[in-house]
Amino acid sequence: NVLILDFGSQYTQLIARRVRELNIYCEIHPYHHIPENLEPFKAVILSGSPFSVRAEDAPHPDLSQLRGHKPMLAVCYGAQYLAHFNGGSVEPSNIREYGRAKLSMIKSGEVFFNGIPENTQVWMSHSDTIAQLPKNGVRLASTADVLNAAYRIDGEETYAIQFHPEVYHSTHGKQLLENFLVTIAGVQQTWTPTAFVDTTVAVLQEQLGNDKVVLGLSGGVDSTVAAILLNKAIGNNLYCIFVNNGLLRKNEFESVLHQYKDMGLNVKGVDASERFLEALKNESDPERKRKAIGKAFIEVFDDEAHQVKDVDWLAQGTIYPDVIESVSVNGPSVTIKSHHNVGGLPDFMKLKIVEPLRMLFKDEVRRVGKEMGIDPELLGRHPFPGPGLAIRILGDITAEKVRILQEVDAIFINGLKKWNLYDKVWQAGAILLPVNSVGVMGDERTYEKVVALRAVESTDGMTADWVNLPYEFLQEVSNHIINRVKGVNRVVYDISSKPPATIEWE
Ligand code: XMP
Repeated sequence: NVLILDFGSQYTQLIARRVRELNIYCEIHPYHHIPENLEPFKAVILSGSPFSVRAEDAPHPDLSQLRGHKPMLAVCYGAQYLAHFNGGSVEPSNIREYGRAKLSMIKSGEVFFNGIPENTQVWMSHSDTIAQLPKNGVRLASTADVLNAAYRIDGEETYAIQFHPEVYHSTHGKQLLENFLVTIAGVQQTWTPTAFVDTTVAVLQEQLGNDKVVLGLSGGVDSTVAAILLNKAIGNNLYCIFVNNGLLRKNEFESVLHQYKDMGLNVKGVDASERFLEALKNESDPERKRKAIGKAFIEVFDDEAHQVKDVDWLAQGTIYPDVIESVSVNGPSVTIKSHHNVGGLPDFMKLKIVEPLRMLFKDEVRRVGKEMGIDPELLGRHPFPGPGLAIRILGDITAEKVRILQEVDAIFINGLKKWNLYDKVWQAGAILLPVNSVGVMGDERTYEKVVALRAVESTDGMTADWVNLPYEFLQEVSNHIINRVKGVNRVVYDISSKPPATIEWE
């Protein structure tokens, strides 16, 4: 187990993911909430930060329980922090050191640089520079612009680097992390999907005993993997509920429900399409549509959860990025999620919560799913928003509009699969616009709907770019849609990036 102390860098989660890729478990904790029990941690990594160590309000935690006691790797801000407060000096650099640089080793035979060639490319991102090393500091490497690019502290297992080993542009970054964690700190590489499944199943059995658990399945990766893990642990004491809100993709409810049953899940499919349509009637404002859908879902789920007798737990597919306590750049703050009006909550929300994936990143959820034999097609599905097609039908929603959009979307998605483009795209879908346009079919004038196609590449949905789909593909899909889907006479392709646009149109 490795402790990553977060000073607010945009790269902190990336450090954690690289460490996990080495099959080493790690946890991110904010610098102002260092865990009291340090026993489980075999090594510590200090992250970068948007702060300057010279600033008044810069993070300044007490590391006396860690430094010299545990092997420590200080990255960027961490490296400057160790220098600044221990007899070295940090100064503003004349040139902003940002981007690629070549690392030149000064000391040979350092275990820290095992297997890393001279002049390896590293990624810099900082505006201060370490002018003088801290007490007992030994310079290990420099770049053309940065004298103290890497150092260690004599007599301690403390290493510090000015560059970012966690970003891919640092070519041997992962090797460096491995040298530090495995060779120097002696951390075991035992964090594998198999080990995770075995341990988690045992922990869930211990925690849940004979208790009953309800879980809402969405058809997505997280809830599915959570369900399979729980099913392994407690079998049919897991009651899954899969709600059809009528806003899913064409045939999705039936096909995913079948898949779930084939996986041996104890799942009840609830078709509440009518109820959701009713709740959305005459609603055209995006946020109000979301609220109406959220409310209807809670009502339906609550009704269903009540049908399970003596249920104690609600399982959720929460993953690690949702639970990491964030370090705010505008002064340390703690994100607290709380339910204020406990009395007004639906009954199922008063249940105890079990979240088997809360320590996993998304890529790890997929690896665990694969390990448990879940269909790769299901694991590779594009993200799909909770409110479904409701936020892709601009304006008010009717059963007819849902039908039209389902047909268009199915042609687009099946086309992507047929052309082997589906896995190259992060998310794709069709949008039904609230305008009619004039067309001509045969000798007839038409006045019908316009649909937009959207396909984006992204890593986390925070930023995205439109995908350069082949013209031949767009041509085939467009023809197909206009010829087959009654009510549509025009297809356009969305070429906006996020920002400034968003992925969904509403
Ligand atoms: P935007 O449109 O904000 O979307 O660029 C980013 C990602 O979030 C999804 N999304 C939602 N997911 N409920 C959800 O569960 C929502 O209300 C919602 N709105 C957007 C969107 O599909 C994309 O993956």
